[in-house]
Amino acid sequence: MVETLTLAPTPSIWRSHRSRWITNLITSYKTLLAVLWIVVFTSFFIWQRNVGSDGFMFFKRGVVARQLPVFRPVVVNITDFGGVGDGVTVNTVAFERAVFYISKVAKKGGGQLNVPAGKWLTAPFNLTSHMTLFLDQDAVILAVDDEKVWTLMPPLPSYGYGREHPGPRYGSFIHGQNLRDVVITGHNGTIDGQGLNWWKKYRQKVLNHTRGPLVQIMYSSDILISNITLRNSPFWTLHPYDCKNVTIRNMTILAPLKEAPNTDGIDPDSCEDMLIEDCYISVGDDAIAIKSGWDQYGAAYGKPSKNILIRNLVVQSMVSAGISIGSEMSGGVSNVTIENVLVFNSRRAVRIKTAAGRGAYIRDITYKNLTFDNVRVGIIIKTDYNEHPDEGFDPKAFPIIRGITYSSIHGEGVRVPVRIHGMADIPVRNVTFRDMSVGITYKKKHIFQCAYVSGRVIGSIFPKPCENLDLYDENGSLVRKSVSENASDIDYDI
Ligand SMILES: *[C@@H]1O[C@H](CO)[C@@H](O)[C@H](O)[C@H]1NC(C)=O
Ligand SMILES: *[C@@H]1O[C@H](CO)[C@@H](O)[C@H](O)[C@H]1NC(C)=O
Ligand SMILES: *[C@@H]1O[C@H](CO)[C@@H](O)[C@H](O)[C@H]1NC(C)=O
Ligand SMILES: *[C@@H]1O[C@H](CO)[C@@H](O)[C@H](O)[C@H]1NC(C)=O
Ligand SMILES: *[C@@H]1O[C@H](CO)[C@@H](O)[C@H](O)[C@H]1NC(C)=O
Ligand SMILES: *[C@@H]1O[C@H](CO)[C@@H](O)[C@H](O)[C@H]1NC(C)=O
Ligand SMILES: *[C@@H]1O[C@H](CO)[C@@H](O)[C@H](O)[C@H]1NC(C)=O
Ligand SMILES: *[C@@H]1O[C@H](CO)[C@@H](O)[C@H](O)[C@H]1NC(C)=O
Ligand SMILES: *[C@@H]1O[C@H](CO)[C@@H](O)[C@H](O)[C@H]1NC(C)=O
Ligand SMILES: *[C@@H]1O[C@H](CO)[C@@H](O)[C@H](O)[C@H]1NC(C)=O
Ligand SMILES: *[C@@H]1O[C@H](CO)[C@@H](O)[C@H](O)[C@H]1NC(C)=O
Ligand SMILES: *[C@@H]1O[C@H](CO)[C@@H](O)[C@H](O)[C@H]1NC(C)=O
Repeated sequence: MVETLTLAPTPSIWRSHRSRWITNLITSYKTLLAVLWIVVFTSFFIWQRNVGSDGFMFFKRGVVARQLPVFRPVVVNITDFGGVGDGVTVNTVAFERAVFYISKVAKKGGGQLNVPAGKWLTAPFNLTSHMTLFLDQDAVILAVDDEKVWTLMPPLPSYGYGREHPGPRYGSFIHGQNLRDVVITGHNGTIDGQGLNWWKKYRQKVLNHTRGPLVQIMYSSDILISNITLRNSPFWTLHPYDCKNVTIRNMTILAPLKEAPNTDGIDPDSCEDMLIEDCYISVGDDAIAIKSGWDQYGAAYGKPSKNILIRNLVVQSMVSAGISIGSEMSGGVSNVTIENVLVFNSRRAVRIKTAAGRGAYIRDITYKNLTFDNVRVGIIIKTDYNEHPDEGFDPKAFPIIRGITYSSIHGEGVRVPVRIHGMADIPVRNVTFRDMSVGITYKKKHIFQCAYVSGRVIGSIFPKPCENLDLYDENGSLVRKSVSENASDIDYDI
């Protein structure tokens, strides 16, 4: 991120850009238009340089507007590309031109595209490297909700299919692939997917392809998404796929809690080195679901999700769970820390879900300082989530679940605090509970339910832990060794 202003591009560089473009690319009307834009902007740059004496002052036209923070040497405004924020005009060309323009200043540190207050309707568009998309307060980028203008893209390699239909899938509303250094931020402006029509059509089964996510960044690194609101995604909301070094901070992610199918908040998918913090997420499916591909396709792609830190979140999910891992995890998931999370008014709090056929592993997962407030099931591990892409999966590809630690778990209004449902072929090993006190609303015997689980509880645990686990006192001395790690007292009727 470049916080200080540098000099405006020099005319000579612009001249060389211009001549290269003129000689190489005047092949179509569209290209000609693009060239015209470059010429116009070059002239404008030169003019600005001559006029401006107090450094760079692009498009400072005496408009009384609040100064927005500047992250890049070049700053442009969507209105300068013909954008109209009236909620009716379709601004696809304006966004495309702005992004194209920024792609031409990449070598100089890239560009920042400001989107001022207004409703900016557009079809899906692609981002470029070294770009900051800045949404001012009351700026809303609105997705055209007619699927005919949504680009079709090939299925994700680690899924083999669009998630809902075979063959191609709709691309995301705001999309990027093979990028570096992308920032999406603002003064809490909004990207609104207008998902209502998609959800209806999905339920009526009239869509022929998998719905598109709201924001999807693929095969990219050094991504920062912060300080804005994402809402009403047609499908998963924010989907970093096969990315490295992604930070998601101080975001609000919203969708209706019911009848907004599969509107997960954030789906880190085959990603490494990721930080998600200070977010509020209330959506129609998992608030967060860490994934890494589906059965044989995910195994062949072989890219794990790892080194992920999730902290300081407030999340709600009435259909699924606050924080999930899986169910698609066939590239493996490891080294994930989830801490300081409040899950409220939800069906489940933290869930691991997988099935025979997935293969790979889920290991070294640490949950710390979680608070559950009015949730049905607190901690849950499910090993028979039998949803498969096709019949080609290997039923003997058993995922390995190891090294799951829960500490400082508190809460009230939780019907079933723990349900860890391992199976003979998919036992859950090396589980640790330390310092847990979760109040219950529904008193029945087995509310700390286990099957095929081994590990330990340390110190004070409420409710009374299942017999499958070894018991240690708070100083780490063994009190009682379990003799029944394979016992099952799972009861879904509670
Ligand atoms: C963008 O341009 C519009 C119209 O000229 C202006 O009202 C607005 O203040 C500008 N915003 C920024 C952030 O430059
Ligand atoms: C975005 O880029 C991808 C990859 O190049 C391409 O398949 C897709 O059609 C582009 N989407 C749009 C809306 O231009
Ligand atoms: C979070 O973002 C909002 C705008 O969305 C901003 O007002 C607030 O100061 C940010 N908080 C932090 C800690 O960055
Ligand atoms: C950002 O906007 C969302 C949606 O309008 C709102 O719920 C949230 O409180 C706002 N965040 C901040 C920091 O103002
Ligand atoms: C789905 O395909 C059918 C048959 O080709 C077509 O009639 C229908 O319009 C398509 N639906 C959508 C939403 O594209
Ligand atoms: C990660 O990305 C951020 C930008 O989001 C960048 O500032 C930082 O240098 C990157 N870190 C590494 C280790 O590449
Ligand atoms: C988010 O907002 C806070 C508070 O205004 C600011 O300190 C921080 O730099 C912002 N982050 C980004 C990336 O804009
Ligand atoms: C685990 O992930 C954290 C980020 O959450 C990272 O700092 C740490 O280096 C990773 N550990 C290993 C062994 O890779
Ligand atoms: C635990 O998480 C809550 C937020 O859910 C936070 O307010 C509190 O400070 C955290 N406690 C510790 C010891 O980090
Ligand atoms: C059990 O899990 C903990 C935490 O993930 C890890 O540190 C430890 O090495 C594991 N022990 C065994 C025997 O795998
Ligand atoms: C529990 O089942 C596993 C197979 O999942 C087996 O290897 C192990 O020996 C069994 N343990 C006991 C105490 O029966
Ligand atoms: C744990 O150790 C502390 C300090 O040595 C001691 O006061 C306490 O009684 C021990 N607790 C148990 C359960 O043995």
